[in-house]
Amino acid sequence: MAKKLLLIVVAVALLLVGALAGIKYTGDNRATVVGDTSRYTAEATNGGVLTRSVGGSGTGAVHEVRDGDSIQAAVTAASEGDVIKVFPGRYSETVYIDKDNLIISGVIVAGAWPIMEGNKELNDAVLYSGNDITIENLQIQHYKGNAIMGQAGNNFLIRNNNIIDTGIYGIFPEFGTNGLVTHNVLSGIEDAAIYVGMCDNVHVTNNEVFDNVAGIEIENTRHSIVENNYVHDNTGGILVFITPGLPIKTTFDTIVRNNFIVNNNTPNFGIPGSTVAGIPAGTGILNMAGDQTTIEGNVITGNKVIGILITDHMNAPNVTLDPGADPNSDEVAILDNLMWNNGFDPIPEIKALKALEFVEGDVQILNIGNSSNSCILDHDKYVTVGLKDFGTCGFVTTAEVTTYLLAEPAERREIAAEDMGKRAYYGVCAGCHAYNSKLIGPPTQIIQALYMDNPGGIVDYISNPVKKRDDYPEMPPQNYLSEDVRMAAAKFMLQVTE
Ligand code: HEC
Repeated sequence: MAKKLLLIVVAVALLLVGALAGIKYTGDNRATVVGDTSRYTAEATNGGVLTRSVGGSGTGAVHEVRDGDSIQAAVTAASEGDVIKVFPGRYSETVYIDKDNLIISGVIVAGAWPIMEGNKELNDAVLYSGNDITIENLQIQHYKGNAIMGQAGNNFLIRNNNIIDTGIYGIFPEFGTNGLVTHNVLSGIEDAAIYVGMCDNVHVTNNEVFDNVAGIEIENTRHSIVENNYVHDNTGGILVFITPGLPIKTTFDTIVRNNFIVNNNTPNFGIPGSTVAGIPAGTGILNMAGDQTTIEGNVITGNKVIGILITDHMNAPNVTLDPGADPNSDEVAILDNLMWNNGFDPIPEIKALKALEFVEGDVQILNIGNSSNSCILDHDKYVTVGLKDFGTCGFVTTAEVTTYLLAEPAERREIAAEDMGKRAYYGVCAGCHAYNSKLIGPPTQIIQALYMDNPGGIVDYISNPVKKRDDYPEMPPQNYLSEDVRMAAAKFMLQVTE
């Protein structure tokens, strides 16, 4: 009942924002999942149908997995194009998918879901490195590392999953091109619930994220849209970052639109010293060094420190500069958003900046640091600090951009033997190791000093890691990677320079 009421309130509010902001709500901006096929169709702005192709084709055999069976055994037996149907039951395992074009599809029977249960002993639920992978309809809970992590797979589709307390990340596609993350619900994640890392052309839509440190994070990623999500009760709602020290150095062309970003005031329970551990509880949207971020049509309310925070690397806590990455947030565009009741309990730094500009009232939008060619559509609509150099935007909407998903699926990454180490480092290790700053694991620079001419030592460690440092979590074993890949990753790790 309460849920229904909430939905009605949300729907009314959505119409209201539409009316206030002069935006049409006709489904224009939405990538709508139609039907239950593995492919999906997005409605184009002009009412026509725009087909995009992500996920498995579902053209092959169907394998059934039932309570007591192993999902991994089915994956091992499957060929390209196959569908693995997982029936209700409890599955305590880690599933590795290293082949292309597969669908893992939970079957929900009379409301009973297939549950992947980590018991707080297993690290990851699903790790895929294949292309054209669909993962849907799973409840994943109590893992220590990731619920679903993509390691350099393209054309992914992750939808309709219910993810609860799975450790550091929830849904984490890393180093992939062309992917859709939609209709998932995620809670209780220590870092980012939905973490799009080093990707291109990604669409994150219609998800609910709550009780996480970071709700949705777009990091070192280009051409992405985050829309129609319900982002509430996290420490920080939606983050658009360049994280320094990663092999991909840019984040640009991100559209954050039509999301509900509400009451993100949960005390920060991030891993001490990690980037997200520096986010003040009470942050709606945080853009750190991301360029060409457009923020439009969101309802942003009840975030006690700030509605929208724009910062460069210099002013961000827990961040070490990367000479290869531009530290400033440039070309940020703040279009019409409905913002109220944010900034009512600011941190001392914001109070000080407010005093410097003689600003009164609760600050909704704050910019710290240099930001060139940024703009805001209506300076008078919000109480702001640090936006004096923002011009007036020359455009009012992004509605003409339906999706950045590709018209044709991205090529499968064919990896030459000599690139194996690079792919493994980018796709796996860089999820936790940055060059010169603390991510989840220690900086690569420190590891290089420890293992200078000894890649074999790294292979030994990552095959069977032991806990070494009090201020870091345990590193999960990487022995699902072949011996060759582990060695290639170790050698690559020893020679990266930024
Ligand atoms: C899920 C996060 C995560 C991933 C992925 C990860 N690591 Fe780690 N790594 C850690 C953490 C955390 C530590 C610190 C553990 C400790 O000190 O107890 C660590 C420590 C290390 C160390 C230091 C060992 C020592 O003797 O001090 C090496 C080497 C290492 N990782 C290599 C790798 C390589 C290579 C990969 C990719 C194949 C990788 N890691 C992937 C989290 C990760």
